[in-house]
Amino acid sequence: MSKALFITATDTGAGKTIISCAIGLALQKKGIDVGYIKPFQCSGDDTDFVIKTLGIQDDKNLVNPYYAKDPLAPYAAFKREGIRINLDKVFSAYHKLKKRHEFLIIEGVGGLLVPLRENYLVADLIRDLDVPIAIVSRAGLGTINHTLLTQRYALDYGIKVRGVIINNYSGKTAAEKTNPDVLRGFLDVPILGVVARLKNIKSKDGLRMLAKTAGENIDLKALLKTEKPLTRQLIKRDKDFIWHPFTQMRDWLKDEPLIIEEAKGSYLKDSEGKWYLDGVSSLWVNVHGHRKKEIDAAIKRQLNKVAHSTLLGLGNVPSIELAKELIAIAPPGLAKVFYSDSGSSAVEIALKMAYQYWQYLDKAKTRFIHLENAYHGDTIGSVSVGGMDLFHKTYKGLLFESYKADSPYCYCCPKCKNYPGCNFECLDRLRDVLRQHHSSTAALIVEPLVQAAGGIIVWPEGIYRKMRELCHKHNVLLIADEVAVGFGRTGHMFASEAEGVTPDILCLAKGITGGYLPLAATLTTQKIFDAFSGEYKEQKTFFHGHTYTGNPLACAAALANLGLFKKEKTLQKLQPKIKFLGKELEKFKKLKHIGDIRQKGLIVGIELVKNKETKEPYPWEERIGIKVCQKAREYGVILRPLGNVIVLMPPLSISQEELKQLLDAAYKAISEITG
Ligand SMILES: Cc1ncc(COP(=O)(O)O)c(C=O)c1O
Repeated sequence: MSKALFITATDTGAGKTIISCAIGLALQKKGIDVGYIKPFQCSGDDTDFVIKTLGIQDDKNLVNPYYAKDPLAPYAAFKREGIRINLDKVFSAYHKLKKRHEFLIIEGVGGLLVPLRENYLVADLIRDLDVPIAIVSRAGLGTINHTLLTQRYALDYGIKVRGVIINNYSGKTAAEKTNPDVLRGFLDVPILGVVARLKNIKSKDGLRMLAKTAGENIDLKALLKTEKPLTRQLIKRDKDFIWHPFTQMRDWLKDEPLIIEEAKGSYLKDSEGKWYLDGVSSLWVNVHGHRKKEIDAAIKRQLNKVAHSTLLGLGNVPSIELAKELIAIAPPGLAKVFYSDSGSSAVEIALKMAYQYWQYLDKAKTRFIHLENAYHGDTIGSVSVGGMDLFHKTYKGLLFESYKADSPYCYCCPKCKNYPGCNFECLDRLRDVLRQHHSSTAALIVEPLVQAAGGIIVWPEGIYRKMRELCHKHNVLLIADEVAVGFGRTGHMFASEAEGVTPDILCLAKGITGGYLPLAATLTTQKIFDAFSGEYKEQKTFFHGHTYTGNPLACAAALANLGLFKKEKTLQKLQPKIKFLGKELEKFKKLKHIGDIRQKGLIVGIELVKNKETKEPYPWEERIGIKVCQKAREYGVILRPLGNVIVLMPPLSISQEELKQLLDAAYKAISEITG
């Protein structure tokens, strides 16, 4: 695999070009084929000098995709010339040259915070290229400050820093003399070399000296080093110590698991350096992509203030701001936010809130109604209102009883004669239960529009609104569990919004922090909140709270996440992707073992069946879903099935091109595994 190194500097004029030449010459002397790219040059002839010195043969357009006349930051220089920088041109040149050469030197422009385009700095380019850097600093007064600032920013920004090269060292002044030792004491990265000031650098002798200096004074080994993959060791330790959720550990111990080490945008990178498209948003949480600048920065900013402070008896800034924002975007009528830290807790809170609420209204409403195929989490309360036998039957003895109504699972509905047409016959049972038990029922709990874990069961339009009406009619609260479907997944900010429904209680989690940190919120109405209001001695308090309730870091991430919905017009941009997805899924229907394809927004469930005509499912032990997802990994995509249903639930920020990659991988994997 070829290697690359980005040469940046503490400031302009520190000697990036000279050091690029020095390293290039020293590597060539070792017989290494060196390539060079300077993506942006503003005035001067640095590129020509390096091309000549290193004998570069590549096309100048690749070596220097952007040249401007004025000695300014590229953002200003190219703007003045009316040139819009197209980063794809830079990435494409970089990839071409990297493929061609054993080692590619990328020379930056100015320092890390030099702007290239609106909202895009040199540091962003480095992160996008995913290359390590060497920092060139020039010896002298001010060097320590500039060097430490650059190093600190780079490390904080997630850039890999190989080390610092002190250039132009004459050793004459006290500052220069003391620079290397002082820096060694304060840097977190090594000093890779101290390069002496050379005279007549452009002469033949000067260049010879430069190569010699680099060979002798720059630690080329450190520059060339590749981190040894620790995969073996990590897998062993994982198997030694970790019990994975929803996983048959005997299989896990036999398998070769992937260990994720990094991520960027829609992709995850494993410990061997292979990138995979995150086809299920890291279990339905990621929204704007991984390592999203704005969310990273918000967490760091909050970290500089306070990581955690309790909401028991105190308030904290981000939780207050977030609550206001959540109420502003939630369905109208919801007025209060109760925080917790997982979807299951959000549901527990909803159940306890509803249960306690009716006690204050002197009503013996103590039971709940849930739907078949429902999944609301793994804690005892949420399992009690779960409708998936596979997950829930084991714990039967621990659970409280709850009434069960039918799931609007059109594909399997024995009542619907003309699927996909629907007359909501599946509501009959709910109507009966409500008629019979409304006086003892506190609430109906549902996952609106899509029962996710139950198999991506997409509801027929309008049925959720009907459920709301029935709850009103029978004086039963409606709890909407939007843990999976909230925050844009269905194409609407909240699924309830799609049918103009305001539930009495709304459970949110997963996407709330953009997929960064555990946070959940249970929203409710003023009416429910007011029922708990009373004298201290009345003990009407809602006796519930978790240690990390309203965690400031998580709330800061959530605020940044919501900010991005506005700034990036996420929901508007989602609409063409949803259409594209729908169109592309058509061709899956022709496959022999596809029973049903269900889509709502960017959520897709592809149901595999043994027999298309009879809808006979694949037997559980055949692990067909698991096999398809394992195959998809060979095509660079991470998926996780729900039994025989293949789930696609990518980050909302996924590009159309990436979406195509996801679909192609799923198609190939399904075709190959089901034959
Ligand atoms: C609808 C729904 N509710 C609740 C949960 C539980 O959330 P958590 O895993 O954060 O406890 C999930 C998780 O998938 C879910 O899909």
